[in-house]
Order: sequence, then C-alpha cells, then structure tokens
Amino acid sequence: MDTATPAPAANSGATPVTTPAAQPGTGAHPVNAAVAPLFQPFAFGRHTLANRLVMAPMTRNKSPGGVPTDDVVAYYRRRVRGGVGLLITEGTTINHPAANGYPQVPAFHGEAALAGWKRVVDAVHAEGGRIIPQLWHVGIARRPGVEPDPGVPGYGPSAIVADGVEVVRAMTQADIDAVIAAFAQAAADAERLGFDGAELHGAHGYIIDDFFWEQTNRRTDAYGGSLENRTRFAVEIVRAVRAAVSPDFPIVFRFSQWKGVDYNARIAQTPEELGRILTPLAGAGVDVFHVSTRRYWEPAFPDADGGSPDTLAAWTKRLTGKPVIAVGSVGLDGAFKVGMFANRDAFEVKPTDVDQAAQALARGDFDLLGVGRALLSDPDWAIKVRDGRVGEVIPFDRAALDRLVV
Ligand SMILES: Cc1cc2nc3c(=O)[nH]c(=O)nc-3n(C[C@H](O)[C@H](O)[C@H](O)COP(=O)(O)O)c2cc1C
Repeated sequence: MDTATPAPAANSGATPVTTPAAQPGTGAHPVNAAVAPLFQPFAFGRHTLANRLVMAPMTRNKSPGGVPTDDVVAYYRRRVRGGVGLLITEGTTINHPAANGYPQVPAFHGEAALAGWKRVVDAVHAEGGRIIPQLWHVGIARRPGVEPDPGVPGYGPSAIVADGVEVVRAMTQADIDAVIAAFAQAAADAERLGFDGAELHGAHGYIIDDFFWEQTNRRTDAYGGSLENRTRFAVEIVRAVRAAVSPDFPIVFRFSQWKGVDYNARIAQTPEELGRILTPLAGAGVDVFHVSTRRYWEPAFPDADGGSPDTLAAWTKRLTGKPVIAVGSVGLDGAFKVGMFANRDAFEVKPTDVDQAAQALARGDFDLLGVGRALLSDPDWAIKVRDGRVGEVIPFDRAALDRLVV
C-alpha cells in the first residue's frame, strides 16, 4: 500500500533568515526560513549538534573482511562536509559468531576493524561533525553459508527449520547472555574509540526485534509470551550497555513496527502496548529513541483516540518524554523498500520539499530528522535544503547504492 507524499507547504520559497552555527565548521549561515527549525542546534551527550539532520544508518557492504576501508572513511567525511549534524554509521556487527548476515559488512570488534572505525571517527571529528555507530546483530536474518564462519546458522528467539534443516537455532540462556555482553562490549569500545554515542539496532526484524515480535518469538520462558517478557531481552541489553559506558554517553535505541519481510507488521497494536515496550527501555537507560518508519508523516494508530493523526515518532515522544529521531522518505517521493537491493531495474525517487518535516519538528512531534537515501545520491543534500535549493538536489536512483563517495 502506497500513501501519497504530503502536499508541499505553501512557503517553500527561499526566504533567507540567519541562524547561528547552521553547519559544522562554517559558523553562521543564511537559512531558508521554511526549514529553519531543522537548522537549530541540539544538545547530545557531551556535545551540541550543529543541526537536527541525522544521517540514517545504511548498510553499504564495502568493508571486506569486516574492516572499514579508506573509501568508507571518505564516505562518512563527505557526508559531514555536506552539513549533516549527526551521522549514524551503517549497521556494524557485535562480537558474536552469528551477528552478521551479509557480505562485506563492517565488524565492530577485532583490532583491524576497530582501527578502521577509529579513522572514521577522527575524520568526522576533524570536519566538526558527530558520529555514532549502529551496533547490530542480525538474528534470524542470518543463514548458514554467510561470512565470517559459513558453518554458523542464524540465532533467534525460536528455531527456524527450512527443508528439514535448522537454519536458525533457538537461543539458550547462555546465548542470550553472550549477545547481551557483546552489545555492552561494543558500546564500551565505541566510547573508547571516541564515538559520540551508540545506537542499538532494535528494528527491522533483527535480533532485538525478533524477540519483540510474537511471530518470531514463540518462547515459553521469561523472554517469551507477554509483551513484558518479549521486551526483556532489549531491556537487559540497554541495562548492560548503560553500565558499560559513561552516564553522559548517549544511548540511541532504534525500533520499528515494520519488518523487511512484512511492511505491515506491528510489535505494538495500540499506543498502550507501545508504552509497555518503550517505558521499560527508557527506564533502563535509553536517551534517544530512533523511530524507523517508511514514511515519517503517517498516523501510527489511526483508530486510537477516535482517529489520531499522530505519528509513531510523536507517540514515542509523548509516551517516553525522551528526544526522538523521525525518519522515512524525508525529501523523497517514494517509500523505502527492502526489495530495492535486489531490483536491478533503474528507478528514481524524486526530491521533494522538507518544509512539512520542519513544521512537524517545530510542532514538537520529534527532535531530530533522519535522512537516508537522499544523502546517498547527494551528499550536499543538507546544504541545498538549508539554502532553499531543493531543485538542485540529485535524485536518488539505484546506482547510488553502488558508489560510496560521490
Ligand atoms: C542502502 C540502505 C541500507 C540500509 N541499511 C540499514 C542499516 O544498516 N540499519 C538500519 O537500521 N536501517 C538501514 N536502512 C534503512 C534506513 O536507515 C532508513 O530507515 C530508510 O532508508 C528510510 O529512510 P529514507 O527514506 O530517508 O531512505 C537502510 C536503507 C538503505 C537505503
């Protein structure tokens, strides 16, 4: 089901106003009035982000052997130069044999991979930017045959058997403890390397989300059954991470209703259920929630309160009182599809105004705005938006997935 992009706001003309420090390293700069709320600073841990734009985590499969290369360093540096206030790295795998599910995904453990990440952090900081890694375990998405050890199956809350072969094994308590410890170690390493926080990947059908979702979690122990039990694994990870890092080192938690295998899936059917998931996570130490939707403007629970227009980001902010990152088709006229990775046919997604996103932020629906594909095709997207030059944005097409540095 596709829902139309909201109509552009009336005031999309480039009326310059001046706000301070709109851009890392460049000081005061005129900002198109229609998007000015996006170019206000934001307190984040020990630092202040120059603006509200966040590069969404995007897997790029360009780190052979799990080690970020010079091109990966240049790729992130280029996005900071393009004016994004906070970068979230592509998913990077924690130290567990089944954490990875795809080729050439960067690891977040081992001397060589961490040294590569250190070079990324240093390059981003040298440009005046801020960066956090997205810490990832793919859970049931892994299949035997994938690197680093092809003999290792997927791990998840419940086993999956395909053609008589167990492709995903049900995690024991020892497996659960090992994954929690690996998340905590990765977060501690992130702080040691100089990252400005860490994001936990709790979305899209990967390990944390596999526990949330009743379709993939059929356990009968303390980690399955009730919503509280299905949230327990995530809460224990957050608690362990919180204990492993400094109190002012921000923990961002990304979650979604949708899964790669089912865009209409839901972990919370009602706002009340959402609160039962998010409240314990906030209590365990999450500082910022990153609400992954495919279209940031869609009502999350249209039947709630007799027809609520509120988005998942707005509900999350209201239920937890925590800062929220919204994301999903910002500045684009087409929703993110997992199938785009496999589809070799060229396709293009047109740039659109982001005035409405700026208004939603100003209204208090969310605090930060994640941008994904628009930044792959055009690293200068943020500067062009700031300057009211959306017409000059390079449209996203599939070819952008093949290149790292533009
Ligand atoms: C190439 C690509 C790779 C992605 N990899 C990840 C990932 O590693 N982790 C994650 O949480 N989301 C990932 N996503 C989802 C994005 O973070 C984002 O939520 C999605 O693209 C919607 O934002 P957009 O419409 O601005 O592109 C990926 C998206 C794309 C296009």
